[in-house]
Amino acid sequence: MTPDCRIRWRFQDGAELETDGYRALNILAHAETYELRIAQACGGQAECGTCRFRLIEGELSPMVVDEAQLLEEHRSNFASDERLGCRARPLGDLVVELRGRAPADLRDDDLTH
Ligand code: FES
Repeated sequence: MTPDCRIRWRFQDGAELETDGYRALNILAHAETYELRIAQACGGQAECGTCRFRLIEGELSPMVVDEAQLLEEHRSNFASDERLGCRARPLGDLVVELRGRAPADLRDDDLTH
């Protein structure tokens, strides 16, 4: 498969890695392909938020309904530049940042009270 773009991954320790990117794959699938660690507590169902990442540069696919709903319900747990890895796909070259450790699972009731 011919790549559509390049993705530069930034990690909390300052390390960076550049990989091919594909418009058909979401960020979580890219991470799995290149053996980069992104949590996925709900298995990619847009329910847990553990796969979230920061978009530093570039353009992602528009939010789909379930992603938008999760972000709206848990707005205080998301930075304005964060998206779900299990939903967002690259539309061109990207720079993204992965969290150093997995974000909390948003299905945990303690987060909402
Ligand atoms: S893996 Fe749970 S929201 Fe993406």
